[in-house]
Amino acid sequence: MSDFTEKVERALLQYLPESENEDVRRLIESMRYSLTAGGKRVRPMLVAEFAKICGGNEDNSMPFACALEMIHTYSLIHDDLPCMDNDDLRRGKQTNHKVFGEATALLAGNGLLTHAFGTAVSNEAVKRNGYEKCVRAVRVLAECAGADGMLGGQMIDLESEGKSVTAEHLKEMDNKKTGALMIAAAKLGCISAGATDEQEKAAVEYASSVGLAFQIIDDILDVTSTAEQLGKPIGSDQENNKSTYVGLLGIDECKRLSRELTERAVSALEIFDNDTEILKNFAYYLLERQN
Ligand code: IPE
Ligand code: IPE
Ligand code: MG
Ligand code: MG
Ligand code: MG
Repeated sequence: MSDFTEKVERALLQYLPESENEDVRRLIESMRYSLTAGGKRVRPMLVAEFAKICGGNEDNSMPFACALEMIHTYSLIHDDLPCMDNDDLRRGKQTNHKVFGEATALLAGNGLLTHAFGTAVSNEAVKRNGYEKCVRAVRVLAECAGADGMLGGQMIDLESEGKSVTAEHLKEMDNKKTGALMIAAAKLGCISAGATDEQEKAAVEYASSVGLAFQIIDDILDVTSTAEQLGKPIGSDQENNKSTYVGLLGIDECKRLSRELTERAVSALEIFDNDTEILKNFAYYLLERQN
């Protein structure tokens, strides 16, 4: 683990709720299980990097980064449920419902979602960012995770199973189910740093291109990778009759498209005065990523 992912993991653990009640402790244990099961921590990294290049810092943005990672983790727990993608492996470990049962997994997801909002307005978040920025952060989280954001994308994903759909349709689905939380990451970093409107606009442009590329690559890896490498099952999309860019356009065209999106993301960084090397390298790394 890199220093940054270790730092995120420590912060996430520190934010987890506690309870005297044994039954509640089991719920919190299942939340902890998925939250600390690994994961690339891509979204927290984006929060921190955008905060830094807009003149803020990693520590102040950390409560927002953790809130977003909680929402992302909840989305994965629910995504893996038998009524959704029905997958048994996540982040190299058994999925939450396999270990704790479906009902607890449902509650663990709800618990992480709810706790994310608490984290974004926690004493620590307010001490570091002030009330106004925390309120803006909560609004961004609600919008990006909600019915017209990640959840809407998941709904389109379910409704598209077994259907032949257009590239435009897939773009909207992926922009929502995956792009929305990436955009949230960029915005949260900007909010913590007090970025200008121009900076926020460029950050959103970067994140939306990277977000779409990220999902296209996820769909490629579902076909080309191995479960050991990915830490989640391969072939899940085909098994569930998912509509994906890979199914529609084929792998080569998907690779070309993700390269094009990456170039677009990198050009969006041009307006920043501070060093954007990490964000630039990150966009290129995604093209080559194996997990
Ligand atoms: C997986 O996200 C779900 C998608 C949006 C494709 P990640 O690939 O970021 O998953 P973790 O957090 O590293 O496990
Ligand atoms: C998931 O898309 C996007 C979410 C909002 C969780 P996938 O269903 O392709 O994600 P994986 O492949 O299971 O991680
Ligand atoms: Mg899914
Ligand atoms: Mg899935
Ligand atoms: Mg996938």
